Amino acid sequence: MSAMLTLYVPRDSAALAVGADAVADALHAAALAHGAALQLVRNGSRGLLWLETLVEVATPQGRVAYGPVAPDDVPALWPALVAEADGTPSAHPLRQGVTDQIPYLALQERLTFRRVGITDPLSLDDYAAHGGWAGLQAAVGMDSAAILHEVTHSGLRGRGGAAFPAGIKWKTVAHAVATPGATKYVVCNADEGDSGTFADRMLMEGDPYLLIEGMAIAALAVGATEGYVYIRSEYPHAVATLTEAVARATAAGWIGDDVCRSGRAFHLHVRMGAGSYVCGEETAMLESLEGKRGIVRAKPPLPALEGLFGQPTVINNVLTFAAVPTILAQGGAFYRNYGVGRSHGTLPFQLAGNIRRGGLVEKAFGLTLRELLYGFGGGTASGRPVKAVQVGGPLGTYVPESQWDVPLDYEAYAAIGAVVGHGGLVVHDDTADMAGLARYAMEFCALESCGKCTPCRIGSTRGVEVIDRITLNRHQPVVRDQQVTLLRDLCETMVGGSLCAMGGMTPFPVLSALNHYPADFGL
Ligand SMILES: Cc1cc2nc3c(=O)[nH]c(=O)nc-3n(C[C@H](O)[C@H](O)[C@H](O)COP(=O)(O)O)c2cc1C
Ligand code: SF4
Repeated sequence: MSAMLTLYVPRDSAALAVGADAVADALHAAALAHGAALQLVRNGSRGLLWLETLVEVATPQGRVAYGPVAPDDVPALWPALVAEADGTPSAHPLRQGVTDQIPYLALQERLTFRRVGITDPLSLDDYAAHGGWAGLQAAVGMDSAAILHEVTHSGLRGRGGAAFPAGIKWKTVAHAVATPGATKYVVCNADEGDSGTFADRMLMEGDPYLLIEGMAIAALAVGATEGYVYIRSEYPHAVATLTEAVARATAAGWIGDDVCRSGRAFHLHVRMGAGSYVCGEETAMLESLEGKRGIVRAKPPLPALEGLFGQPTVINNVLTFAAVPTILAQGGAFYRNYGVGRSHGTLPFQLAGNIRRGGLVEKAFGLTLRELLYGFGGGTASGRPVKAVQVGGPLGTYVPESQWDVPLDYEAYAAIGAVVGHGGLVVHDDTADMAGLARYAMEFCALESCGKCTPCRIGSTRGVEVIDRITLNRHQPVVRDQQVTLLRDLCETMVGGSLCAMGGMTPFPVLSALNHYPADFGL
């Protein structure tokens, strides 16, 4: 046996939820019992969530994966891991092969997530050894205009939902002037409230320095000296990991008083939200960060001009900032070459709901839902046919099979009235009641509405009632059809009259359910 056995057990929340800590304890106990020297690295998750807890062993052929491993599996697994480390493949039923060759991973195009699951998330040495800080080091040698040019040229668009070009937003902040004595800000939106999404969390838990690096580059580009990461309170592990990473990166001089020896300051702070979906809306998030109730602000003024504490502010999603170090390190043209049309780069899709192989799939824009559902996801977990997929969170449409071959890019999706959003997919099988899901969308809006504008606050409550009247009267065509007309009217009012996308997009899932699955409404 080799002198030291090196094993990897994820510390990601998804792995912890299925007992990764107990698996790690069992491995330590086995090493002790066998008198073996063990190096156990707590890495991020590879994103193959159906295989968690995924235990990897370092071998001469690369890392070999076993999963899903439960603590009770460890005694029988131990000899297999030891043999594997010496280069002898085992016949253990949980063996998944060389990790990088598992098709789910091998077929991905990981730019943003290329280190996640590979490194020890909090190790600065590991981060640097795997190409970390190259983007920031490049940015330090560039002026603001050159950084803005690279980000604009990359074609990077916001990954939080609205897909606004990051370079244009940054340029606006760079050209804006802060009040004398005040500073500009860089704020990361890590509220990640969309159903079925977990990419922000995985990134923060699995490669936190990447986010820090991306935000530091933004600060250099726009001239900001203070930054905040707003993380939802449901993510305690992400909060802990990122807080520790900020402290270590500051102590090492990557950020802080003298960013990467540039003579420029950038201080980063982690703040926890209090569990409201609407606090992910950027202006409500600013209110919350300022210590106020999370209510949406009217725009204009744009946050880029008057944002946090009234000062020019860059606000981007975790994945937007996390794409930036690659762009600076490899050039805007490199990133731009991924994707199709005006959707450049990659998107980490998140497969959730009723799906056999749930997890994270980072691919260039342009693949189809069918490829994600069947090529990667393997169909439903229930084994029944897929009926509908909600793409883009609770405000996204239900996409029916007739649209599963539309390329996943912002424009192609907009053309069918759908949204790519943050790349979350929630899969439903043929037992789903689409009228019930439409009702749920309205109810969700009623519960989460900030209450500032009437179409959303009142409309969503009336929407629940109207959908109830449709389903109660499904065998009474006259009443039912009147209520359907009323529902369509109400949706039009909400789309046209709401102050933000909460009320403005709730009709998307409702109308897509009604239009694509009329039978579920008795039509
Ligand atoms: C109701 C609502 C919830 C939102 N939740 C989030 C969220 O959790 N995370 C996020 O990044 N953006 C969210 N957004 C979008 C933000 O308002 C904003 O567009 C985004 O943070 C900008 O960053 P980006 O350009 O990098 O996408 C939400 C928007 C709305 C209307
Ligand atoms: S649409 Fe809803 S969440 Fe948005 S401002 Fe109006 S009441 Fe608030």
